[in-house]
Amino acid sequence: MRILILGGDGYLGWPTAMHLSAKGHEIAVADNYLRRQLCREEDVEPLFETPNLIQRTKLWKAVSGYEINLFIGDLTQWDFVTEIFNHFKPDCIVHYAEQPSAPYSMLNRRAATCTLQNNLMVTANIIFAVHELCPEAHIVKLGTMGEYGTPNIDIEEGWIEIDHKNRKDTFLYPRQAGSLYHTTKIMDTDLLWFYVRMWDLRVTDLMQGPVYGLFTDENINQNQLLPFFNYDELFGTVLNRFVVQAVAGYPLTVYGKGGQTRGYLNIKDTLNCIRLAIENPPSPGKLQIFNQFTETFSVNELADMVKHVGNQMGLNVKIQSIENPRKEAEDHYYNPKHTGLTELGLEPNFLTDTVLAQLMEFVARKAVSAALE
Ligand SMILES: NC(=O)c1ccc[n+]([C@@H]2O[C@H](COP(=O)([O-])OP(=O)(O)OC[C@H]3O[C@@H](n4cnc5c(N)ncnc54)[C@H](O)[C@@H]3O)[C@@H](O)[C@H]2O)c1
Repeated sequence: MRILILGGDGYLGWPTAMHLSAKGHEIAVADNYLRRQLCREEDVEPLFETPNLIQRTKLWKAVSGYEINLFIGDLTQWDFVTEIFNHFKPDCIVHYAEQPSAPYSMLNRRAATCTLQNNLMVTANIIFAVHELCPEAHIVKLGTMGEYGTPNIDIEEGWIEIDHKNRKDTFLYPRQAGSLYHTTKIMDTDLLWFYVRMWDLRVTDLMQGPVYGLFTDENINQNQLLPFFNYDELFGTVLNRFVVQAVAGYPLTVYGKGGQTRGYLNIKDTLNCIRLAIENPPSPGKLQIFNQFTETFSVNELADMVKHVGNQMGLNVKIQSIENPRKEAEDHYYNPKHTGLTELGLEPNFLTDTVLAQLMEFVARKAVSAALE
């Protein structure tokens, strides 16, 4: 298949590009380095430097023999989008290219409007490009479990049947976001659902939970091919942040009561889920939704796991509750369904002590080499 990966420089985009390339697909990646730019502007740095996409695609060619096509530019710009679609007519588009940080979206007006404009315009441009230039193509869009919020009832997989005054209908499961970033994801879903109905598009919307980890089959023993790894409070997801805090001898900062529960997944499973979604496209005029995570943990449970593994490694890990910078329920019911991807064949890589130890040992080695530089 010809697969176009939007946001191909990102934490998930680059590993996805290599994974699908290794499976023999023809891959193109597009990115404007927005994520790197926002990190520089906010003065936060990933744990280690990563090569840019020109260097990464060359390295991948040297290691694997596979070519990855590269487009550098801003996907909010229609001319850039049409240039890509005219040069590389995709069978499938994996859409990661958004501002992905909830805390960043809540920083100030500038960050908020950047998130709104960027995320909605990229999604709209992709919809229009598919409709005008390759209407058969399948859009695989990254949404988030955060679209659902934390309702006091079970979370279904995308849709809910409502029985009202003796009549029944099926609707998108109610959404209630806890940040502006998550609100843009809800708006994306609404845009996609609208144009699926209007133009018979084929769309899979993946409600993904926070991802952790670094290692995939394609980058193991190839440090130059690792994705970037943020551990700051803006761009670092919670488990990645705890791992670095533990290694740095800094207390694991649990926000508030720590009962916030979410569905998590290993980066390897993100790649498997994306591949399964690509291999199982919906028919035209159908919006297929999967809840993409493999297991749920509260923040306290994650902190306890990191403390346990860290202490086994000889670290003296402490946990500290700090005032919650976010407005969110700290103790709540959480029971989301997630059977769709398992039924398609997903075999989860669960969060074991061994997985955690491998990540912590890597971070510890990086910390030592940084100290020696
Ligand atoms: N990482 C997670 O835990 C997680 C969880 C749920 C959902 N998601 C979603 O998955 C997607 C990928 O997440 P990630 O963690 O890899 O984020 P990321 O920031 O690392 O990757 C997104 C990439 O898209 C690029 N991009 C953004 N706007 C662009 C534009 N206008 N033109 C061209 N490129 C653009 C960025 O430069 C970046 O490289 C996002 O949509 C995010 O919302 C991520």
